[in-house]
Amino acid sequence: MVGSYILWLALASCILTLTATEQQGDRNLTNSRSNDPCQNYVRLDEPSRSTENTKQGSLCDSNKSGWYRFVGDGGTRMPETCVPIHRCQTDAPMWLNGTHPTLGEGTVTRTACAHWSDNCCLWKSQVLVKACPGQFYVYQLEGTSNCNLRYCTDPSTAEERCENTCRPEEECRFLNGTWDCFCRQDLNISDVHSLQPQLDCGAREIKVSLDKCILGSLGFGDEVIAYLHDGNCSSTVQRQERNWMSVTSPTQARACGNILERNGTHAIYKNTLSLANAFIIRDTILNINFQCAYPLDMKVSLQTVLHPIVSSLNVSMDGAGEFTVRMALFQDSNYTSPYEGATAVLGVESMLYVGAILERGDISQFNLLLRNCYATPTKDKTDPVKYFIIKNSCPNQRDSTISVEENGVSSESRFSVQMFMFAGNYDLVFLHCEIHLCDSLNEQCQPSCSRSHLRSEVVAINPAQVLDLGPITRKDAPSLGVMNGTPSIAGFLVAWPMLLLPVLLAGLF
Ligand SMILES: *[C@@H]1O[C@H](CO)[C@@H](O)[C@H](O)[C@H]1NC(C)=O
Ligand SMILES: *[C@@H]1O[C@H](CO)[C@@H](O)[C@H](O)[C@H]1NC(C)=O
Ligand SMILES: *[C@@H]1O[C@H](CO)[C@@H](O)[C@H](O)[C@H]1NC(C)=O
Ligand SMILES: *[C@@H]1O[C@H](CO)[C@@H](O)[C@H](O)[C@H]1NC(C)=O
Ligand SMILES: *[C@@H]1O[C@H](CO)[C@@H](O)[C@H](O)[C@H]1NC(C)=O
Ligand SMILES: *[C@@H]1O[C@H](CO)[C@@H](O)[C@H](O)[C@H]1NC(C)=O
Ligand SMILES: *[C@@H]1O[C@H](CO)[C@@H](O)[C@H](O)[C@H]1NC(C)=O
Ligand SMILES: *[C@@H]1O[C@H](CO)[C@@H](O)[C@H](O)[C@H]1NC(C)=O
Ligand SMILES: *[C@@H]1O[C@H](CO)[C@@H](O)[C@H](O)[C@H]1NC(C)=O
Repeated sequence: MVGSYILWLALASCILTLTATEQQGDRNLTNSRSNDPCQNYVRLDEPSRSTENTKQGSLCDSNKSGWYRFVGDGGTRMPETCVPIHRCQTDAPMWLNGTHPTLGEGTVTRTACAHWSDNCCLWKSQVLVKACPGQFYVYQLEGTSNCNLRYCTDPSTAEERCENTCRPEEECRFLNGTWDCFCRQDLNISDVHSLQPQLDCGAREIKVSLDKCILGSLGFGDEVIAYLHDGNCSSTVQRQERNWMSVTSPTQARACGNILERNGTHAIYKNTLSLANAFIIRDTILNINFQCAYPLDMKVSLQTVLHPIVSSLNVSMDGAGEFTVRMALFQDSNYTSPYEGATAVLGVESMLYVGAILERGDISQFNLLLRNCYATPTKDKTDPVKYFIIKNSCPNQRDSTISVEENGVSSESRFSVQMFMFAGNYDLVFLHCEIHLCDSLNEQCQPSCSRSHLRSEVVAINPAQVLDLGPITRKDAPSLGVMNGTPSIAGFLVAWPMLLLPVLLAGLF
C-alpha cells in the first residue's frame, strides 16, 4: 500500500538559537602544469600527528620539503582551527589558517600557524594546498623555522574504516575493538527543521524515525522521552539502529491516540509525536505532527472501524504458503463502509454488500473465487435450508437483485443482493461462502456463467473452505409470529406472500 503523508514540526518554545559562521580563506591560484603534485607526493603515515594525540613529545618538522599527503588513522587533512599546545606529539602544533580548496580551485596558498605562548599564530609558514581527484589533499610543506614545531592532522578526516558509510552527522570511530559510526561530537545544530523526521506509512503500522545525532545536538539526549497522543500507548516501540530512533503506531483508528478522518476517497490517520528531555523543563517539548493518507478500499476501510463484521479463514496451499481470506459486510456500493458491531441491521429493501479479500502470501498468483455463497436461517453452515446467492461460481439467475461485481479475477471478490430475497421470513440470517484460491497461471479462474450452464447439479461444499458471517438482522421485522404465519404488520409480508418465502429459502435452482 502506498500512502501519502504530511509532516510538520512545531516547537512549543525554543531555547536554542541559530547562528552560522563561515570562514573565508585566501585564494591564490597558481598554475603548476609542469609537475602535478597529485601524482608526485610523499605519503606521511604518522598517526602521532593527530590533534587528539596528547602524548608528550618533541618531534619536529624542520627538515620537511616538498609535496606531502597525510594518510592513516591520524587523519588526512590539516586542522583548520587552532590546536592546543603539546598536541601532535610536539610542543607547538601547526594548523592551517584557512579552508581547504575545492577541486576546481587548483593550488592555493595558505598560512600554517604554530600555536605557542598563548598565540595561535606565533610562527607562520606558507603552505600550498591542492585538492586532488579521489578526495584527498596534497600539501607543499616547508621545513619549520624552529623546533619543536610540527604539522598536525585532524583525526576526524581519517580514511573511513567503517563497514557502513557514515552519515554526515556521524563519524567513523574506533571503539570497543571495532570501527563504527558514532554521532559526531562537534555537531552544533540548533534549527529544529534540520531534524527532518522520516515517515513510513505502512499497511500495518506508521513509523516515525528520527536522527538521534541531530536530536542529541538539539538537546534531546539519551534520556529523550517520546510519546504519541495516547501517552500510555503500549504498542509504541522505540527501536535504535544506526543512530536512529523510531516510534510506531498501528494503522488503526484510535490506537495510540490516532485520529482517523475519512473523506470520500481516503482514510487519513493523524497523530503527534512529542519529545521531551528528562532534564529539560516541560515547555520545551518538540511536537511532530504527522499524518498518513491511504486510498480507501475494502481492506483499508476494515481498519478504519473498531469492530467490523468480518470473518477470516486461513488457507494453506501446498508449496505456496499460507493465505488469509477475510469477508466483510459493507453498507454501500463503494464497499468502503463496513458494518460494525455484533450484527448488521438491514431494512428489507436495502442491499447487502459482501466483500472478500485475499491477504498474506503471494497474491499475485492466486485469484479469489467464491464458489458457493448461501444464506441460512441458523448459524449452522450445513443447515439444509439454504438460499443460494452464488452457486458453482455463478450468480443465482432467479434472483435479479444479485450482482456479482468481481469474482475470480483478482484477490478480491464482491457481490450484492437485496436483503428480503434471502432473508425470507426469518429475522436472522447467516451468510456462508465457500472460497477457492484459484491458481491464475494454471487454471481458468474467471467463471463462465451462461444460461445453459445454469441448471446446475447438486453442489458438494467443503466446510473447511467456508467463511461464515452473521447474524444479519432484518430491520422492522415483526418480532413474533412470522414462522407460524400469523398476520403481521410488516409491509414486506404483504408484498411477498408467505407462499413465496419457503420457495426462496429452499434453494431451488
Ligand atoms: C599569490 O601568489 C602571488 C604569486 O603568484 C604572490 O605574489 C601573492 O603574494 C600571493 N598571495 C597570497 C595571498 O598568498
Ligand atoms: C628528518 O628528521 C628526522 C628526525 O627528526 C629523520 O628521522 C628523518 O630521516 C629526516 N628526514 C630527512 C628527509 O632528512
Ligand atoms: C587567520 O587569518 C586571518 C586572515 O587571513 C587573520 O585575520 C587571523 O587573525 C588569522 N588567525 C590567527 C589566529 O592568526
Ligand atoms: C563496549 O561498549 C559498551 C558500551 O558502548 C560497554 O558497555 C562495554 O563494556 C564495552 N565493551 C568492552 C569490551 O569494552
Ligand atoms: C554552537 O555554535 C555557536 C556559534 O556557532 C556557539 O556559540 C555555541 O557555543 C556552540 N555550541 C556548542 C555546544 O558547541
Ligand atoms: C494513562 O494511564 C494513567 C494511569 O495508568 C491514567 O490515569 C490515564 O488516564 C491514562 N491515559 C490515557 C490517555 O489513557
Ligand atoms: C481526501 O484526502 C486526500 C489526502 O489528504 C486527498 O488527496 C484527497 O483529494 C481527498 N479527497 C477528497 C474527495 O477530498
Ligand atoms: C462512493 O464514493 C464516491 C467518491 O469516490 C462518492 O461520490 C459517492 O457518494 C459514494 N457512494 C456512496 C453510495 O457512498
Ligand atoms: C491465521 O494466521 C495468522 C498468522 O499465522 C494468525 O495470526 C491468525 O490468528 C490466523 N487466523 C485464523 C482465523 O486462524
